[in-house]
Amino acid sequence: MALTPVITAHWDEPDCFTVDGYKKVGGYRAIKKALKMDPDDVINIIKDSGLRGRGGAGFPTGMKWSFVPQNDGHPHYLTVNGDESEPGACKDIPIMMANPQALIEGIIITCWAIRAEHAFVYIRGEVPEPIRRMHAAVADAEAHGFLGENILGSGMNLKLTVTSGAGAYICGEETALLDSLEGRRGQPRLKPPFPAVAGLYSAPTVINNVETITSVPYIIENGVSWYRSMGTDKSPGFKVWAVSGHVNRPGIYEAPLGITMGELLDYAGGIRDGHELKFWLPGGSSVPLLLQDHLDTPMTYEDIAAAGSMLGTGTPMLFDDTTSVVKAITRWLEFYKHESCGKCTPCREGTAWITGSLERFQEGVGRSEDIEGLVELSNHILGRSFCALGDAAATPYEPALKAFRSEFEAARHQPVDEAFPPAATMIIPPETANLAGAAT
Ligand SMILES: Cc1cc2nc3c(=O)[nH]c(=O)nc-3n(C[C@H](O)[C@H](O)[C@H](O)COP(=O)(O)O)c2cc1C
Ligand code: SF4
Repeated sequence: MALTPVITAHWDEPDCFTVDGYKKVGGYRAIKKALKMDPDDVINIIKDSGLRGRGGAGFPTGMKWSFVPQNDGHPHYLTVNGDESEPGACKDIPIMMANPQALIEGIIITCWAIRAEHAFVYIRGEVPEPIRRMHAAVADAEAHGFLGENILGSGMNLKLTVTSGAGAYICGEETALLDSLEGRRGQPRLKPPFPAVAGLYSAPTVINNVETITSVPYIIENGVSWYRSMGTDKSPGFKVWAVSGHVNRPGIYEAPLGITMGELLDYAGGIRDGHELKFWLPGGSSVPLLLQDHLDTPMTYEDIAAAGSMLGTGTPMLFDDTTSVVKAITRWLEFYKHESCGKCTPCREGTAWITGSLERFQEGVGRSEDIEGLVELSNHILGRSFCALGDAAATPYEPALKAFRSEFEAARHQPVDEAFPPAATMIIPPETANLAGAAT
């Protein structure tokens, strides 16, 4: 399947992130169209396009917008989720760096559709570059009259605030993000009420991912049939795939949903020379691993689910035969344990217990009861946690044990760093890397 650069089409232009650069390649035409339309018609176009949220859950975007009550006398808000803290996910930050004006145009169109006059972009605190880039992009758009009062004479007013967290994975969860935005410690809220009804400052709020909102102007400009000419009926359109791991050309490849991992792997130059694929994850660390046999599975929400995983953020990570599956899972669990916000017991306690078990395997002193114990512990977390972070932490063991049980057995007697030397699996050459840090 051919690549279809849309969001990424002009990233190599030196001024792609400015209003002038964006306008040169057709930018800011879609808002002229949208602002002449009835807001409900804009919502219907996005509904008909079948655009699904790119933040991980794949929820239909137009449907989400239509949940916002209209003429209710309350202010409405749009919050764009640019937290992107999932291990392996690296698409929203590049989009904000290279195409911030398309994101801003998408924000204006979305706010017109949901009748909001104030929008926020929430970016994770550890990444100063996209925060600076977005601040500059907003000032540029204001100077050109695309933000502020009476935008293009339409009567629409819009203030766009760029804000950042302090660097917590949980603040990417939409309701924790709202708490953080309101100045509180970021912890998930009980749902219902859903944010579309009572979100930021208890007012109706749409929360969408950066890639989702950046897709909007292209759909408005080119139409539903164009968008639906790519992908499948249930997973239409194009997607920014960020391919990482043991591949020769890691990077961003934009292609329709329905492309296979095998095809994406070809674009990424194949697995590192001299090695073979061992396992891969379609969308960040929170989804079950897949194997070589699944390389021909179309990358759609429905096909990847049928194969036993989830499309998630659509940012595949590939691991070659130098990787210890035990160590990879241990690293993810250490992350989830660290990032667990502590609000609910199954996740707060369970991630610590599982990490303890996994660290014993990593050190070569795993107990036989730890193998089944991992599955039992994860069953106490899955479906019993307050938010999806707990579910993510409970995901990896069953598929890993099914495919690589012998590695867990071996790790009862031999440290994984002996069986899988860190220097062999590292992507950065060992002579330039801090091996002491990497081996822990
Ligand atoms: C622990 C956790 C972290 C999340 N992090 C992000 C994130 O960084 N960016 C994002 O867009 N969605 C993230 N999500 C999903 C959001 O809760 C939400 O579903 C998404 O922002 C909705 O946007 P979409 O409909 O455009 O996908 C996270 C969810 C969880 C449970
Ligand atoms: S599942 Fe984990 S991150 Fe989510 S609310 Fe519970 S403790 Fe917090």
